[in-house]
Amino acid sequence: MNKLKKIFNRIVRILTFNKNHYGKMGKKNKFGSYAFLDEYSVIGNYNYIGRNTICSNVVIGNYCSIGPNCSIGLGEHNIKNISTSNKIMNDSLLTKKAVIGNDVWIGCNSVVLQGVVIGDGAVIGAGSVVVHNVEDYTIVVGVPAQKLKNRFGIEKVKKIKSLELWTKKPSEIRRIISRNE
Ligand SMILES: CC(C)(COP(=O)(O)OP(=O)(O)OC[C@H]1O[C@@H](n2cnc3c(N)ncnc32)[C@H](O)[C@@H]1OP(=O)(O)O)[C@@H](O)C(=O)NCCC(=O)NCCS
Repeated sequence: MNKLKKIFNRIVRILTFNKNHYGKMGKKNKFGSYAFLDEYSVIGNYNYIGRNTICSNVVIGNYCSIGPNCSIGLGEHNIKNISTSNKIMNDSLLTKKAVIGNDVWIGCNSVVLQGVVIGDGAVIGAGSVVVHNVEDYTIVVGVPAQKLKNRFGIEKVKKIKSLELWTKKPSEIRRIISRNE
């Protein structure tokens, strides 16, 4: 079954001239050169995916800014097997969906492991390796990524979340922000 799926995906890639974005995509997303989104991923609207960034098996919300050279949600070889090589084990990679919320900024050269959930408004510092879930509106940095600080106080986060800005168009969001400043 897995082999059939692989063959099918290869055919799709050939028929679509090896373009780099598969999966379900919303509107107004921008991709830097060589940014790659695989067929198991789902991405919302108004996101930017930087140059050379690879997104695999991930759900991405709206208005995210993902820097260049990041790897998100890549599959993992089974470390319980005697060998991790697929050539020997003929195993498929382990895959747990990663989830990136809305209005998340991921700094350049970061790695987000499979299965990790990043909350709305979170910021991932440049060069981080994110191995644990990240709460809404927090900044994490480092290897492994750890919380640096909250972006805002609890009340402000509640207020921002209640506005659900990421469900709206950019012009509308700008209007709401200027009314609330
Ligand atoms: C995470 C980030 C937004 C934090 O900005 P900030 O709140 O202004 O943080 P500060 O510069 O005040 O740094 C606070 C502390 O965190 C550390 N720090 C900041 N960014 C870090 C990072 N990416 N990795 C490790 N430590 C970091 C600083 O060294 C400092 O530590 P110290 O107090 O011991 O000196 C910023 O540093 C960053 O990584 N930006 C990403 C840039 C990028 O990738 N741009 C590409 C465009 S998409």
